[in-house]
Amino acid sequence: MEVDLFSTVRLGCIEMSNRVVMAPLTRNRVAEGGVPQQMNVTYYEQRASAGLIVTEATPISPMAHGYPGLPGIYTDEQVAGWRKVTDAVHAKGGKIVIQLWHVGRISHPSLLPNQVLPVAPSAIRPAGHAVTVEGLQEYVVPRALAVTELPAIVKDYVHAAQCAMRAGFDGVEIHAANGYLLDQFLRDGSNVRTDAYGGSVENRARLLLEVTQAVVDAIGAEKTGVRLSPVNPFNDMKDSHPQAIFNFVATQLNGFNLAYLHVVEGGIHGGGEAAPFDFAAFRKLYHGAYMANLAYDKARGNAAIASGHADCVAYGVPFIANPDLVARLKADAPLNEADSTTFYGGNAHGYTDYPFLSF
Ligand SMILES: Cc1cc2nc3c(=O)[nH]c(=O)nc-3n(C[C@H](O)[C@H](O)[C@H](O)COP(=O)(O)O)c2cc1C
Repeated sequence: MEVDLFSTVRLGCIEMSNRVVMAPLTRNRVAEGGVPQQMNVTYYEQRASAGLIVTEATPISPMAHGYPGLPGIYTDEQVAGWRKVTDAVHAKGGKIVIQLWHVGRISHPSLLPNQVLPVAPSAIRPAGHAVTVEGLQEYVVPRALAVTELPAIVKDYVHAAQCAMRAGFDGVEIHAANGYLLDQFLRDGSNVRTDAYGGSVENRARLLLEVTQAVVDAIGAEKTGVRLSPVNPFNDMKDSHPQAIFNFVATQLNGFNLAYLHVVEGGIHGGGEAAPFDFAAFRKLYHGAYMANLAYDKARGNAAIASGHADCVAYGVPFIANPDLVARLKADAPLNEADSTTFYGGNAHGYTDYPFLSF
């Protein structure tokens, strides 16, 4: 039988009933303290027919926050809140991993403990505005991390991964995409360091590879994925030679035998034009399971799987508006339109009230 979006697959130790993945989606609807509540449980439970859910990006420490209304995965209360989510998804036969996030420079003192400066590889202010509780405010010049501070950040990823295991997740996805801390280290538009973490591709990849190694050592490679976005310009990101750094990263990640590599294959969020990049060549360098993302529909998803380009396909916006996306794709049923005015923040409207298909 031909393999398609509706075929089973195993990523690491995660057995999926289909290859339609819910992409990570920040929704800014978590209460004070970053503890998921019933409304958040309902949202994920509604989407449990995905082969795999990747949660919204979730800060690994108080310094990792960069927007209001985010969850966390570093306190016992957060673990208990997430446990309700994972139990609900598992009860429906679904699988769920949590996306581990440190925002780096994409933050603001008003969102951080003691109003300190955001941290980054280099003291380079991103163009644009932080989303704060008081509204949009210009980004500030971040503080460049000292080499001696990096082991503590690696430890924060490990602690968060361990919290994720206690919360009942099937695994974790290390967020190294979309202009946040690990991506800021990878790309030379945000990393001009002259120490062992800047300059050459080996040096710029070092922090991601150290985090990956530490998380793999803590919870196992078969439960660990990594997300990259080689040419996404969102968050004022650029690189002088993206193919060189990301080809190197793909090659190095082969050594871990990860559950999967998740790739945003272009630019998102209207961040501008994505640089040219040979995704087919990059894909060939990676030998493990590959999760493709960006503007896939059913036909392109099936084609990517049939050709061997992807083992599974992540859908973002379609999952916001269609909790039963898998059933709709399977039946070639029409999709609900997503309302972008309710993407970030608010209440149950635009979150848990999108209609299911009625047969
Ligand atoms: C509302 C919204 C929130 C998002 N939040 C995240 C996030 O937390 N982590 C992440 O890696 N990508 C995030 N993304 C990007 C999506 O995961 C995905 O890459 C993007 O929507 C493209 O996929 P699509 O064309 O299927 O929607 C977000 C996108 C949207 C629209």
